[in-house]
Amino acid sequence: YIHDAKLCLEPFLGEGGLKQGIFEEQLESCRQSIVRLKEDKDSGRLPFLSIPEQRDDLVVCQTIASSYRANCSDVVVLGTGGSSLGGRTLYGLASSAFGPINGGPHLHFIDNIDPHSFDILLKKLDISKTGLIVVSKSGSTAETVAQFMALLPAFQKAYGPEKLAERITVITEPRPNPLRKLARDLGLECLDQNPLIGGRFCILTIVGLLPAMIAGLDVAALRNGAAKVVEQAFNTEEMAKVPAAVGASVATGLLRQRNIRQTVIMPYEDRLANLGLWYNQLWAESLGKEGKGTTPIRALGTVDQHSQLQLYLDGPQDKMFTVIYHDTKGQGLPVDSVLPKGEDSLSYLRGRTLGDLLTISAEATTQTLARNGRPVRKFLLEKIDEETLGALTMHFMLETVISADLLGVNPYDQPAVEQGKMLARRLLKEL
Ligand code: PA5
Repeated sequence: YIHDAKLCLEPFLGEGGLKQGIFEEQLESCRQSIVRLKEDKDSGRLPFLSIPEQRDDLVVCQTIASSYRANCSDVVVLGTGGSSLGGRTLYGLASSAFGPINGGPHLHFIDNIDPHSFDILLKKLDISKTGLIVVSKSGSTAETVAQFMALLPAFQKAYGPEKLAERITVITEPRPNPLRKLARDLGLECLDQNPLIGGRFCILTIVGLLPAMIAGLDVAALRNGAAKVVEQAFNTEEMAKVPAAVGASVATGLLRQRNIRQTVIMPYEDRLANLGLWYNQLWAESLGKEGKGTTPIRALGTVDQHSQLQLYLDGPQDKMFTVIYHDTKGQGLPVDSVLPKGEDSLSYLRGRTLGDLLTISAEATTQTLARNGRPVRKFLLEKIDEETLGALTMHFMLETVISADLLGVNPYDQPAVEQGKMLARRLLKEL
């Protein structure tokens, strides 16, 4: 999924990067982390690493997805954090700022509880042509349950008790919980979420894949891409050839050696814009514990080149960078067709396309950061499709759990988030 692992290694070790000795030490620790991860995978303790091998869990989803595709103009997905960001990231492949790309319903991922947005949603959408998916692993997240109960009367009115189950699907873990009870009382379909896969690791489970299927994406290819990453990581002795081990070594090594406390993820293409949102949660919620962790920053290609790049180059030297793009040279609309002959001030655009500009901008940012002594790696993707996105997401999940092992924190819990949830419930009772 990236042309050459060296691409992600060399800039990190160059000027402004990591000392070779520290890098090698960290890399050696990764070897042990990977052995432990493999044992946990094989014993079934870490099923997110085995997801790519699964097939049968998607059969029910396929039926639901076909029905939503055939009957709905819109599908609202309720959920927050890991119950929303995975699906949203995958949907980026099938949609644009102007709506879905290849037919199929328009998906709306609603994770905030802003009442204004819900008022607009009910005004804008034809509920009689809208499907609803409600995702909450615990089934007790106040925001998600409240969103559901707020929208339910409109769906009950549009569909009546008999047809409600055809348009509302609930995803939650199998154990009894308030959302499951509500769904059962209403006679709704409840899909089981694997209790051993936490929200931020469930992008390739039914949580992310049901929306992806409704959007018409090839979910087998998503899982294939992820499977290749797991296979590559677990079947080599050469840690320098495992991009997730390299990334984890560099991130934790730079923290040790240079106190690099922020990590910027900067995809250049709109289809990958939400990857940064998803990554923010994955990295922050998995590593930010016991006074440890580094802060993820989400940036987008040329947009932030014209805003945050000032800080990146000229501000504090406390960041590392991941630039993600694929070669779009020669693609897209030509930008020189209206240039009058003899017009010199824009002559650098002659013979160029929008795709040229995008790729050259990504190259320029990477090189400028490297020349200014900022640790930067680039992921030069072969293409942007389901397989690549499956690979990228698995890569980042692996990189995160290996980093957690190197930092000595548990990547799978989120005590501070749980504290916030409990506090919200208490205040709702008290205020
Ligand atoms: O990664 C996590 O565990 C959290 O961010 C959850 O995804 C988020 O809090 C939503 O939880 P739930 O799916 O239980 O509603």
